[in-house]
Amino acid sequence: MSEQRATNITWHDGEVSREERFGALGQKGLVLWMTGLSASGKSTIACALESALVNMGKHCYRLDGDNVRHGLNKNLGFSAEDRNENIRRIGEVSKLFADAGIITLTSFISPYIADRQQAREVCEKEGLPFIEVYVDITLAEAEKRDPKGLYKKARAGEIKGFTGIDDPYEAPEKPEILLTSHEMSLDDEVKAIVAYLDENDLLGS
Ligand code: ADX
Repeated sequence: MSEQRATNITWHDGEVSREERFGALGQKGLVLWMTGLSASGKSTIACALESALVNMGKHCYRLDGDNVRHGLNKNLGFSAEDRNENIRRIGEVSKLFADAGIITLTSFISPYIADRQQAREVCEKEGLPFIEVYVDITLAEAEKRDPKGLYKKARAGEIKGFTGIDDPYEAPEKPEILLTSHEMSLDDEVKAIVAYLDENDLLGS
């Protein structure tokens, strides 16, 4: 948990309400938080979902683990402490994007239940929907896919602390959406998420 260091700071409210922002965009801001092993398909699903939602006239933005680690989180590695800070920052950034009215798609391994819970609380405390999407895959299947060759390197001892090999992954106990990545087609995964949003009245303004 990150401590508050700055003192003598005062919150400054604007003149436009969240409802007015959402109304101007014709949609509601929310966070779709994808979690799962490396190579589970989080980023692929987020890209396909973004296309589907944009085709429906929705304004989306993807926050992707590998991408964000090139910029905002370039100073973080893969220790438990750095992963916690990675997820803390993304929880906060997601909250801002959702508050702005954007359908925010995050794809981070986010291996620790407590870190994901913290991100959820940051959003829900502000009244913003946080939908956890567990992209479930067996380790054997993730290793078989291994698109970046990282599992191979981890097995060879060339990468230390690789999630699923010698670093933990704590699966969600009650995700809002469960996608069994090794059994479902990409199209069905996208449809399942869009159906969830529709059923929960999250696609209108
Ligand atoms: S998280 O654990 O902090 O949520 P994040 O999603 O940002 O991870 O980054 C994971 C990506 O970093 C993986 O998809 C992989 O490409 C790369 N990576 C490099 N080293 C590791 C490692 N030790 N464990 C997991 N992923 C790693």
